[in-house]
This record gives sequence, structure tokens and C-alpha cells, in this order.
Amino acid sequence: MSRRNKITIVGAGNVGATAAHWAAQKHLGDIVLVDIVQGVPQGKALDLAEAAPVMGFDLKIVGTNGYDETADSDVVVITAGVPRKKDPVTGKFTSRDELVEINRKIVGGVTREIASRSPNAVLICVSNPLDAMCHVMYAESGFPKERVIGMAGVLDTARYKYFISEALNVSVDDIHGMVLGGHGDTMVPLPSHTSVAGIPLTELLPQDKIDAIIQRTRGGGGEIVGLLGYSGYYAPAAASVAMVEAIVRDRKRVLPCAALLSGEYGYKDLFIGVPCVLGKGGVEKVIEMKLGDKEKGMLEISANAVRELVALLPYGKGQAT
Ligand code: NAI
Ligand code: 2OP
Repeated sequence: MSRRNKITIVGAGNVGATAAHWAAQKHLGDIVLVDIVQGVPQGKALDLAEAAPVMGFDLKIVGTNGYDETADSDVVVITAGVPRKKDPVTGKFTSRDELVEINRKIVGGVTREIASRSPNAVLICVSNPLDAMCHVMYAESGFPKERVIGMAGVLDTARYKYFISEALNVSVDDIHGMVLGGHGDTMVPLPSHTSVAGIPLTELLPQDKIDAIIQRTRGGGGEIVGLLGYSGYYAPAAASVAMVEAIVRDRKRVLPCAALLSGEYGYKDLFIGVPCVLGKGGVEKVIEMKLGDKEKGMLEISANAVRELVALLPYGKGQAT
């Protein structure tokens, strides 16, 4: 008897529950939603399951505070952790860096529970600070690097493409481009590799408009926090589910993901956002694209920002080859 794909999502908060929603809508597989708060994963899973007759998906969706139900998952998305918040008094946002200490303990514990029950799963890290948490998941799972992947580039690229489509008043479907690097203010949008249906972006928008879009993309997470008072979740969840879909449907999609590099782009033992082929095995290939000197310099700044965070962890430090 064939078995449906099994997707576990840990953290039934804004990103996790919304990811479950998009994944069910796309009929990607049975879903297990895990959270530490009693009743929340159970309630959200039941609510989503009750939408099945209306939306037409035949999936098993369960919520739990434990891990036994997660056994033999194909893909696990980890969103557990504390998100960025705006302090109501000072108006200052929690920085991604400040989250390292709290979230590394949460993500480390969750990863151990998952890895012992789903030794063949592909793990997708969403918890922030993203690139540092990928190092935690890699170290704590003991999984091969191909099966530990960070979600950031798909989200950052989605924001970038959306802003371009808005500026040009054209369909989002026709914007092609990528944002590389770490998930932070130093991320690296690549305008010289961006096109609109094959037409270079640089022919369609003046440099000052492109620069403004790059700046808005870099501050995309903060812009939402500034409006909502907490971080966004529709686009982050959709981006996570695009990666889940590429894996469970073995689509070999080329998506920018945080992958552990082993010399590609001149970096070793460092998770950083690069173009990856995503399929059943996780990261099946890291594509090395030619970057100009300016882009290489920006990637180096971004890699240094990731290294600074990784240095706060009790694991090896990312080093350039
Ligand atoms: P949220 O607060 O709505 O949800 C987090 C959930 O994790 C909560 O329900 C909480 O109870 C749960 N949790 C905490 N400790 C846990 C544990 N030990 N085991 C299981 N569940 C646990 O936060 P939200 O907005 O869903 O964000 C989740 C994470 O994703 C944050 O770290 C946030 O910064 C990050 N994020 C990353 C993005 C990216 O591009 N990589 C984009 C958006 C958010
Ligand atoms: C975002 O980019 C907060 O990392 C999160 O929305």
C-alpha cells in the first residue's frame, strides 16, 4: 500500500500553522503539528482538518505536544522559537542576534527529538537567526549536510520580486532573480542577474529605483514587524512550503536556500544562502554562479555577519577556505 508523504511542522505559531495551511491546500502530505503549548497544536490541526471537506483535501492532520506522532516524517519544518518583537516602550525591535541564545536551546532540543524518530527526514530550518540555527540543527541532528536546509532566500527573493513587479506593474510570474547570502541586513540581492521575462532589470528600472528596492528587500522583515508589532508569516510560510513541495514532489527546483558550503563560493563549513537544486534528497546540488567583484564583496560581508553569529554557538566556527 502506498503511503502519503509525511510532513511535520514544529512550532504551531504564526509561521508553523500558516505553513500547515498552505501545505494542506497544496495536498502535499499528511501533517503533524507540534508545539509546547497544550491544546494549540491540537486545536489548530483539528480546525484545519475540518476545512478538508470544503477545500477538498484527503489528508491526516494531527496536533500534538509530543514527538511520537512525528516518527518517519519525510520532511520536518522547524519554526519553534521566539520571533522578533517590537518593544512597546522603546519601540526597538529584537535583533536576530539577540535571539541566538534563546532559540539555540529550543531548536537544539527540538532537533534531537526529531532526528531520533525520523532519521531519514529532510530538515528545513525557519527559526531565527536563520543561518546560525541551521548550524544548530546540523550539529544536533548529525544528518548529512544535504538534509539540513535553511529557509530565507526563498522569502527574501519573494519580497524582492514582489517589489519589482509592483514598481513595473507586471506579473510576479515574469520576474526572475535571486537573493543570496545570510538572512539579515547584509543579504545579497543580485540585480545584474535579475530579468523580467528575459529583459535585464537594469534596462527597465533606473539605478536609484533598483537601489531602493534592494534596501526595502533587506529591511523586508523589519518593515512587517514595524507594522504588525511581530514578524510576518504569510510569505515566510509560503516560502517554507515551496521548499517542502520541491522536496516531496522531487521537483529539482532551483531555489536560494541556506546550505552548508564545502568550498563553493570560497566558503567552508558555513551555512549561507546560495542557489540549490532541491529534490527528494534535499539539497541535491549547490549551483555556483559567476559573481562580479562587487557581488563577491557583498557576499563576503554577509558571510562575515553569519560567522559572527555562528561564533556565539558552542559548535565549530565557519571559516573561509
Ligand atoms: P510564533 O511565536 O508565532 O510561533 C513560535 C511557536 O514556537 C510558538 O507557538 C511556541 O509555543 C513554539 N515553541 C516555542 N518553544 C518550543 C519548543 N521547545 N517546542 C515546540 N514549540 C515551541 O513565531 P513565528 O512568527 O511563527 O516565528 C517562528 C520563528 O520563525 C521565529 O524564530 C522567527 O524569527 C522565525 N522566522 C524566520 C523567517 C525566515 O525567513 N527564516 C521568517 C519569519 C519568521
Ligand atoms: C522575516 O524576515 C522576521 O526573519 C523574519 O520576516
